[in-house]
Amino acid sequence: MIPVNTPLLDGNEKKYLLECIESGWISSEGPFVERLEREFAARVGRRFGIAVSNGSAALDAAVAALKLGAGDEVIMPAFTIISCAAAVVRAGARPVLVDSESSTWNMDAAQIAARITPRTRAIMVAHVYGLPADMDPILALARRHGLAVIEDAAEMHGQTYRGRPCGSFGDLSTFSFYPNKLVTTGEGGMIVTDDAALAERCRSLRNLCFQPRRRFVHEELGWNFRFSNVQAALGLAQLERLDEFVARKRAMGARYSRLLAGIPGLRLPAARTDYAESVYWVHGVVLEPQLRFDAAEAMRRLGEAGVGTRPFFWPMHRQPVFERMSLFPGERHAVAEMLGERGFYVPSGLALTEAQIETVAQRVRELLA
Ligand SMILES: Cc1ncc(COP(=O)(O)O)c(C=O)c1O
Repeated sequence: MIPVNTPLLDGNEKKYLLECIESGWISSEGPFVERLEREFAARVGRRFGIAVSNGSAALDAAVAALKLGAGDEVIMPAFTIISCAAAVVRAGARPVLVDSESSTWNMDAAQIAARITPRTRAIMVAHVYGLPADMDPILALARRHGLAVIEDAAEMHGQTYRGRPCGSFGDLSTFSFYPNKLVTTGEGGMIVTDDAALAERCRSLRNLCFQPRRRFVHEELGWNFRFSNVQAALGLAQLERLDEFVARKRAMGARYSRLLAGIPGLRLPAARTDYAESVYWVHGVVLEPQLRFDAAEAMRRLGEAGVGTRPFFWPMHRQPVFERMSLFPGERHAVAEMLGERGFYVPSGLALTEAQIETVAQRVRELLA
């Protein structure tokens, strides 16, 4: 089986992990945590980095740090991971959905203005799969209406928008370090910001909101979203190689696109827009409507042929948990629905070999012949 993801851990990972073990620093108090926060924030041009236990926790903390809650609305894409909407719903606020562009699969900036109401407090942007969302119009709208921006850059390590790093656009921007990400720590995440007060709030929320002067006294409820020195050791070794990883992903993306070109009924991911080159976090493909089977059937058959796959996200307005809450009654978001039904991605991990890419492409070609 060619796995859908295998990370590359052959840099300084072992060396830094050994330092943790030999020094005894394994908790969140260890020195690598602060170093990773500093170096990761610098890499995306931000003043502060706050490492947390995963990318979903980063979104929960970001929503809480901005004090979004009952009566507030947060505009976000219909097509994203549930972590985005879950953070908003858990805070007691309401997610307001916007459909995707059919070209980049990101939230369609042109549809946002129509969703703004007097209750709108924030726009949550999530860049998906390879290309960033079109940030300039989104930031202009946010400025005009006094809205906060949460930028979910979980998948966009090393990516840029018009030359500026993804992760540099939100009042708070978040990342994930899950093993399929370009920088992995096993589990992990990061919040970055330029705002000292927001950074301080995130630090407090990450650590149960301990009162600074008297530990075990709490003015507010936080979480244990702490990040360990062991995770940070991995993260530092990974971050050192980010440019190399981006180049490798782009080369893999170009190879897949070449090998999969011209297959009838198969839509390939956009390689670029006028503002960015895809970083091919994953190589996502979409089955055109004329094909007689959907993504689930394609993935089943590819699995039988030894190729690991994952389905695309399932749109928020069609999530059973949100249907039961009557959050999005009668809403339709045609592009998000099409992507959920007809999209999946092929093996895309950094350790994938050229021979494996060729095998995967051959299996996909046979499937659709
Ligand atoms: C866009 C996006 N946001 C958030 C997350 C959540 O990150 P984590 O799995 O670290 O909780 C992911 C995970 O893949 C993601 O793709």
